[in-house]
Amino acid sequence: MSIAHWVRDIEDFPRAGVGFKDLTPLLANAGPFAESIRLLAAPFRDQRVDCVCGIEARGFIFGAAVATALGCGFVPLRKPGKLPAAKIGIDYALEYGTDRLEMHADAVCPGTRVLIVDDVLATGGTLAAAGELVARTEAEIVGAAVVIEIAALAGRTRWLWPAPLHALIVYGQD
Ligand code: PRP
Ligand code: MG
Repeated sequence: MSIAHWVRDIEDFPRAGVGFKDLTPLLANAGPFAESIRLLAAPFRDQRVDCVCGIEARGFIFGAAVATALGCGFVPLRKPGKLPAAKIGIDYALEYGTDRLEMHADAVCPGTRVLIVDDVLATGGTLAAAGELVARTEAEIVGAAVVIEIAALAGRTRWLWPAPLHALIVYGQD
């Protein structure tokens, strides 16, 4: 059974008119969850990834597991005010309002080979901000991996790095 089978559509969440892709059924089932991690990691197995940067919150779930699958470390890109040591941050626009991601300044070094992981690519603002933040450290971005891409929102166009953006399930693409 494809992993798409384990994604649940919730209408009108988080607000009226919005359809939410709920990944909790996938996470709750060992086989599909393991398969999603295997598929996220697969294109990067030979890419000498030094660390996975996962985006808070849902990107932590998949990112940490992908790091284990690739045999590398994990670096959290956190929402503001959570990290204790010296950090760098980036503000980014949401559909309504702004948000911010932060990472420890010493989490990666110039040349560190980084894979960025999140659960969903929607407008692309979050992933673009993560890419920009990691790029500031002069780490080398070897790619990004998401479980779900909502093609209609064209988030992929905001991924500006010459590295693959890998999506397991693309909605709205024939
Ligand atoms: C969600 C999702 C992605 C992001 C995608 O995160 O997990 O990180 O939105 O949207 P975008 O492509 O339009 O930026 P959100 O911050 O809403 O919640 P989370 O903390 O539960 O991950
Ligand atoms: Mg998120």
